[in-house]
Amino acid sequence: MKPPFYITTPIYYVNDVPHIGHAYTTIASDMMARFARMEGREVLFLTGTDEHGQKIQKAAQAERTDPKTFVDRVSERFRQLTPLFHLSNDQFIRTTEDRHIKSAQALWNKMKEQGYIYKGGYAGWYAVRDEAFYAESELINGKAPTGADVEWVEEPSYFFKLSAFQEPLLTFYRDNPHFIGPESRRNEVIRFVEGGLNDLSISRSSFKWGVPVPEDQDHVMYVWVDALANYITALGYPDENTSDFKKFWPEALHIIGKDILRFHAIYWPAFLMAAGLTPPKRLYAHGWWTNEGQKISKSLGNTIDPVELVETYGVDQVRYFLLREVPFGQDGDFSRASLEQRINSDLANDFGNLAQRILSFVYKNAEAKVPTPSSFEVQDEALLKAAQELLPRLRENFEKQALHRMIEAIWELVGAANRYVDAEQPWALKKTNPERMATVLYVLLTVLRHLAFYVAPIMPQTSERLLALLGISETSISFKNLIEKKLESGVQLPQPEGLFPRIEKERKE
Ligand code: MSP
Repeated sequence: MKPPFYITTPIYYVNDVPHIGHAYTTIASDMMARFARMEGREVLFLTGTDEHGQKIQKAAQAERTDPKTFVDRVSERFRQLTPLFHLSNDQFIRTTEDRHIKSAQALWNKMKEQGYIYKGGYAGWYAVRDEAFYAESELINGKAPTGADVEWVEEPSYFFKLSAFQEPLLTFYRDNPHFIGPESRRNEVIRFVEGGLNDLSISRSSFKWGVPVPEDQDHVMYVWVDALANYITALGYPDENTSDFKKFWPEALHIIGKDILRFHAIYWPAFLMAAGLTPPKRLYAHGWWTNEGQKISKSLGNTIDPVELVETYGVDQVRYFLLREVPFGQDGDFSRASLEQRINSDLANDFGNLAQRILSFVYKNAEAKVPTPSSFEVQDEALLKAAQELLPRLRENFEKQALHRMIEAIWELVGAANRYVDAEQPWALKKTNPERMATVLYVLLTVLRHLAFYVAPIMPQTSERLLALLGISETSISFKNLIEKKLESGVQLPQPEGLFPRIEKERKE
């Protein structure tokens, strides 16, 4: 039995509407959720919105709206990413839901009961944009290291005894070498913790938009305590005995951006340990996108609207580009020129053309039916073997979240299949050796079947279309089915149609 799989995205702040950076994290997580489902694993895929805190309160005020009306509206925009990008999340959580408020308060109570929360007063710097406290020594030219403005905050506050977790955390990182990926991020976290940890202010008393601190209505929880708890709320916390909690919590993988590593790699395991819970199994931090070389920001007015992008280029094209263009874990640059280049070369020329050549040839010259092969030659066996042996390579890279490597490996098969068509020239065999032609076409259709399965986590709609063109009415596209079943000879194929239109127009920047 394969283990269950729990994959989460960060929950998105609703101070701003979704842009391509947000969509990226969720699309990458979607690829992994879909792959795990094809493995026959039981999957819970969670995304949602982070709706409390000073930043959101200010954004609502700026629009002269009450915070609840404001968050309801913006959260809906994030929810709409699911149909837009064909995301397969099982839940969409909001931190303003009752179940979550109950869960965050229960987590607080647990930490308090264990003696890890005490009351004091905070005097120091706070950056609303980052929703983070900074020490004087961290400031650069009077700003947060992220460039955010800071303000001086002096107010009564509850503290979390983070300092007590320096040793437990270092031991935990040592005992769980795969807790943080990529490796470079793990080293960054360890160095930071080795430098010493101060207790953390975990409540605010100068504004109201947050989860009330249990038994002290003058305070709301620091938004990160509230936000991180979403990952366990979704499993039924505070009830640790739900089947979801027991099944999924030990298998949790949090996908995050590199900007929020500290919160997930240091605070979160410490909170959990303080509450008597185990930390998640793994975190993976991806990099940041720039837009045409520039930082993406609302103030620069260069955020990329996901809806416009999908309308212009197509959903699978955008998914493919985001997952393929940049090695997962590294920073990358978004540009329309590179998106169009990928669509034309990888999708239209390499993959689309392969499918089109084979399917229209079969349609016209093989009675639009899956032919019956005779004996396979060495080159046939080699290509079929390459198709089968792709799966273990995909699995290996999946374990490391090397999503770009998975895609590269699939495209190697596309390349091998295109070279095989050129070498075997089925069109030339039509008159000279129809029996051999049938075998060559059968081999190629089999490879297309494999490709239709392999691309399903990346481009679900394209996968479905290709399966239909292959006459496969598979309801469950699992890897078990891929391996155990075969393409059936004699099946009637529909009229072929292209998978990816080329982008012809020259763009003038
Ligand atoms: N609300 C917190 C997360 C709480 S998780 C318990 C938060 N929200 S956010 O909306 O500001 O950002 C969420 C995530 O969006 C980032 O971690 C990152 O994954 C993603 N990105 C936002 N802009 C991005 C880019 N320009 N590029 C890539 N990802 C980016 O932080």
